[in-house]
Amino acid sequence: MNKTITCLLFALILVISGCQNSGNELEVSSPDGSIKVKVGTDTGQLYYAVEKDGQAVLLPSKLGLRFKNHSALGEKVKITASEHQTFNETWEQPWGEKRLVENRYEGLRISLKENKGEGKSMILHVKVYNDGFGFRYEVPEQTGLDSMIIMDEITEFRLPEVAMAWWTPIYTENYYEGITRYTSVNDIDTVNCPLTLEMPGGKFLAIQEANLTDYAAMNLYCSDSSTLTVDLTPWSTGEKVFAKAPFVSPWRTMIIAEKPGDLVTSYLNLNLNEPCAIDDVSWIEPGRYIGIWWGMHMGKYTWHMGSNHGATTENTLRHIDFAAKHGFSGVLVEGWNIGWENDWTKEGHRFSFTESYPDFDLEKITQYAQKKGVRLIGHHETGGATQNYEAQMEAAFALYQQMGVRCVKTGYVSPLLDGKERHSSQYGIRHFRKVVETAARYQIMIDNHEPAMPTGLRRTYPNLVSGEGVRGQEYNAWSPDGGNKPDHLTIIPFTRGLAGPIDYTPGIFNFDNPVNPNTRVQSTLALQLALYVIIYSPVQMAADLPENYEGHPALRFIEHVPVNWDVTRVLDAIIGDHVTMVRKDRASDDWYLGSITDENSRMVELDLGFLDSNRSYNAEIYRDGDEADYQHNPTSLIIESRTVQSTDLLQYQLARGGGLAIRFSPVAQ
Ligand code: NOJ
Repeated sequence: MNKTITCLLFALILVISGCQNSGNELEVSSPDGSIKVKVGTDTGQLYYAVEKDGQAVLLPSKLGLRFKNHSALGEKVKITASEHQTFNETWEQPWGEKRLVENRYEGLRISLKENKGEGKSMILHVKVYNDGFGFRYEVPEQTGLDSMIIMDEITEFRLPEVAMAWWTPIYTENYYEGITRYTSVNDIDTVNCPLTLEMPGGKFLAIQEANLTDYAAMNLYCSDSSTLTVDLTPWSTGEKVFAKAPFVSPWRTMIIAEKPGDLVTSYLNLNLNEPCAIDDVSWIEPGRYIGIWWGMHMGKYTWHMGSNHGATTENTLRHIDFAAKHGFSGVLVEGWNIGWENDWTKEGHRFSFTESYPDFDLEKITQYAQKKGVRLIGHHETGGATQNYEAQMEAAFALYQQMGVRCVKTGYVSPLLDGKERHSSQYGIRHFRKVVETAARYQIMIDNHEPAMPTGLRRTYPNLVSGEGVRGQEYNAWSPDGGNKPDHLTIIPFTRGLAGPIDYTPGIFNFDNPVNPNTRVQSTLALQLALYVIIYSPVQMAADLPENYEGHPALRFIEHVPVNWDVTRVLDAIIGDHVTMVRKDRASDDWYLGSITDENSRMVELDLGFLDSNRSYNAEIYRDGDEADYQHNPTSLIIESRTVQSTDLLQYQLARGGGLAIRFSPVAQ
């Protein structure tokens, strides 16, 4: 696909120079006029305030940066100039939840200068969309300010009232894999973004960042009863960001939504990332995959070589045969490379990324896969040793490219990278960026486990296809707390899901756990199917063992469910209770519906108004059986078909921890 033809369908940029507003305050409104952002410097302190439909969303909130080697920037400034921008384009995602994305905003570029002290200057960029806004700092080239060490941001989000928040702590739980808490905003810890808030009046807000490139990740803490202040993940030495002028910070963004579903269908953060940097994206192939993976987590196989080694040539060929037979494009194999035999979670451990175990014949396997129309999905578990990985990365990607491997799952299991730095520190951000850029040169897609939180880089590098950064299915194999509670999956589309695709690894059909009987998947089988619609990823795993799928009639749903969509809609949702979504296939006129509930059984009503009004559809329905229950009878499932139209209203009972998955295919006329 040629990005210059297809990514930019329509663009209009109008720049009017000069100060638009009088005094020390400027104002810019969203294209539909509903959201207004004001920026001012009343007493010298730079601030902004936001309202929607005339009601305050943010009270005047401070902006600025604190340095180690200079005085703070933003405390004694005045506005010296401003430019207004109007922008409107529609661009095409090479893959995604939606094909065409509207990028339409009104913007301000505000020049500021200190009127006391060092006389430093800065630029504030503001963009206001119909569904939210973003702003970023620019420190332009100037005398007396070359290299900077940022110690903090002054950036605040001053809510007009105390909101409720869905949050996970950043410093006490690794890799964003905490259980989401739901508390009043003044009871939060220092939390990672996206942070999702519910205002007393019923609005939903999501605060996050976009285009995190060479900076520390943004976290938030509550500095007084309803003010959220930015915290930047530090280096081990305490500094936050090393920068050189000219530089720009990532965008600080907020989605303002009337209902939870509007958070999910906002593309604001992608719009605030740079357009696609890869000329030819035809090699980036979304797809479904299986793997030699769940067997290790369930104690059936080992990663290291031995009598129960999962990654043997024979076992891999068997998986390739299964993939080919059932239309999976990839087979992930973990434990193929030397290094798993030692305690790889210990500091100082080194994996090899080019040497296979003797019982894994990479060449034979990849040749066989090619014959069968399947690709091996590579695996690079670094154990957090990024220097060891960077030293081997080019050779490792070159080897995989030569073997026809197009996607690599990377992993960083260690609380600190290289025994020292946090994943979300500038150190980590630089490493993750380097991996994605290097992989792109070898035409390799990255599925990053134990990542830094995604911020929309997938727009610029669509080879960054998926990631973890969530308490995934693996916790249902071994977590001492028994596994993910049923409400977990009704929350993450509205929290972590706002940051980008999630490799949650759904699709468990066998709910027995012989090794850890008190830990298990806490859902019904119908819910496992619904997850293919609810949790978005362009590389979507069927996580269970082939032997648990073979001959099972429900596999048919996974064989067909797409990973690349034309349109996504959230029909109904209460965060933490239930979610119903529909998505339209990009390659056909089929629609898919997923509906899931928490630990409570509930009746869902489905208005099929999303279907084309002039045709009939065959609905292939996978629903909880009458006896289904996530604790006592998870596998009870009814599969049935009926003919439906857009005017129909359907009702289905979801079991406790249950779900519903439907494929709608137009009936040939
Ligand atoms: C943690 C990852 O999330 C999991 O998927 C993987 O199997 C292990 N690390 C080993 O790399």
